Amino acid sequence: MGKIIACKTSDISPGKMIKVSIDGKDILVANIDGKYCATDDSCTHSGSSLSEGKLDGCVITCGWHAAQFDCGTGKLVKFPVKIRDLASYNVIVESDNVFVEM
Ligand code: FES
Repeated sequence: MGKIIACKTSDISPGKMIKVSIDGKDILVANIDGKYCATDDSCTHSGSSLSEGKLDGCVITCGWHAAQFDCGTGKLVKFPVKIRDLASYNVIVESDNVFVEM
């Protein structure tokens, strides 16, 4: 695939995350104090939209059962049982455009 535009930098305030659709896939894009990161939006536990959860620093907390993932790496941070990490994607910012490499 390649570099695909996800949104404008102004679409995501620092400390916030949004869901975008890229090629029919839901991707979470977050702004961690000016550094952007992207993962799959669907929680690997039961499929909740993670962008509707909470973001604290670089930790996403799922709104359904509180699984926590690192937004930068997609790795599971905390959950009582082992579930898959999220796929994470390289993000490139050029002028005011946020691109995701897929
Ligand atoms: S759906 Fe995310 S923790 Fe259950």
